Amino acid sequence: MTPTFNKLPSNVRAGSIDVLQNALATAIDLALLVKQGHWNIKGPSFIAIHQLLDGLNAEMHDAADTMAERLVALGGVAAGSTASVAEARPGTSTDIISGQEPLLGTLIEGYAAFGADLVAWIDETAQSGDPSTSDVLTEVSRMVDKSLWFLEAHTSQATTSPQGASS
Ligand SMILES: [Fe+2]
Repeated sequence: MTPTFNKLPSNVRAGSIDVLQNALATAIDLALLVKQGHWNIKGPSFIAIHQLLDGLNAEMHDAADTMAERLVALGGVAAGSTASVAEARPGTSTDIISGQEPLLGTLIEGYAAFGADLVAWIDETAQSGDPSTSDVLTEVSRMVDKSLWFLEAHTSQATTSPQGASS
């Protein structure tokens, strides 16, 4: 870690840096997947989803920027190259999905998983004594939940609950 006059204990900062790096890789990965979807989407709702995904990409980029800057403010080094993201996210497929429903389904899965991770990280960083990182993650969590809603509202299953989901 780089030296800083930030008064948080170094072990607290190290924990937050780890969490933020993980969240940053996820955000960059999702932003790129969303942009790829923006380019390749095909289907009857092309223009609505094409435009929606451009907006979601911009919001995810803003979130990545905020998290990376918090990470560096704590004395960390923000890794944001495609190579480092690929290393952190080995499960991401290189398949390109164009069909409206499978594309939205893939993005919904990605946003839902990120949303669940964020809830855990919000608690973890708050309990470790870094409320500001918890606050940054809370803001990202609100965006991810809202984006998930927008994605779900564009699917044909939008009026029914997912199987096994509790309401
Ligand atoms: Fe575009």
